[in-house]
Amino acid sequence: MSVSFTRKLREQKQKGEKIIMLTAYDYITARLLDDTVDLILVGDSLGHIFSGYKTTLPVTIDEMVYHTKAVVRGASKATVVADMPFMSYHVSLESAKQNAGRLMQEAGAHAVKIEINEANYAVVPALTQIGIPVIAHLGLTPQSVYQLGGYREQAKTDQEADQLLSLAIRLEQDGCFAILLEQVTHEASKKITEAVAIPVIGIGAGSHCDGQVLVTHDLVGLTQDRVPKFAKQYDTLGDRFKSAIAEFATEVKSGKFPQK
Ligand code: KIV
Repeated sequence: MSVSFTRKLREQKQKGEKIIMLTAYDYITARLLDDTVDLILVGDSLGHIFSGYKTTLPVTIDEMVYHTKAVVRGASKATVVADMPFMSYHVSLESAKQNAGRLMQEAGAHAVKIEINEANYAVVPALTQIGIPVIAHLGLTPQSVYQLGGYREQAKTDQEADQLLSLAIRLEQDGCFAILLEQVTHEASKKITEAVAIPVIGIGAGSHCDGQVLVTHDLVGLTQDRVPKFAKQYDTLGDRFKSAIAEFATEVKSGKFPQK
């Protein structure tokens, strides 16, 4: 990881070089991603993918610290961004600083990502002012899934899109080094990407963004549950995994493995 990653990402935006971000929750996945991606996200999506929860709400700061440590050990080139889970930045600015500090100091993350809205905005300057690099996650923020009424596209009206745009501009002014837009309309993501100098990374937010992020398990075909419509599947590793296991079981049962 380069210590000047925030500058490098801005330069990539200026040159029109797309930024690649993927998720990892463990050492081996981080090793496999490290040569190809700019950013590895230890997302709280690990609540679905690793732990099998229905939402990301049960994920704790201790779990994030544990998984981030494993990812950091596997990433020698990529920048590791750790998600701040539900309730780790909502109680007070003091506890938000402590929890972000744990992700950086104890787990070794290079930056944190936080789901931002008007109500919790104060956490952004509180962290950036003490030198913590922050990615603001806007649009569909899964930690508010019950309030949003489901995993639906956001910023559909002109008024909502304008509100999101002014939020993005303030976030840049308050020191966020990137913005992540989840499931917002292509029109809104285009306007935001053009309006700010910091990189905008999209997921289900169209092709105008400066970079793209996906859940790695979705794109390689390991996810066994629902995969979002916008996630392109590039392989079917889940099927290949199952057939290797089945072949092993058949060979053990028939005496073909292990050989003498
Ligand atoms: O938790 C996560 O993995 C995320 C991505 C889906 C952007 O927030």
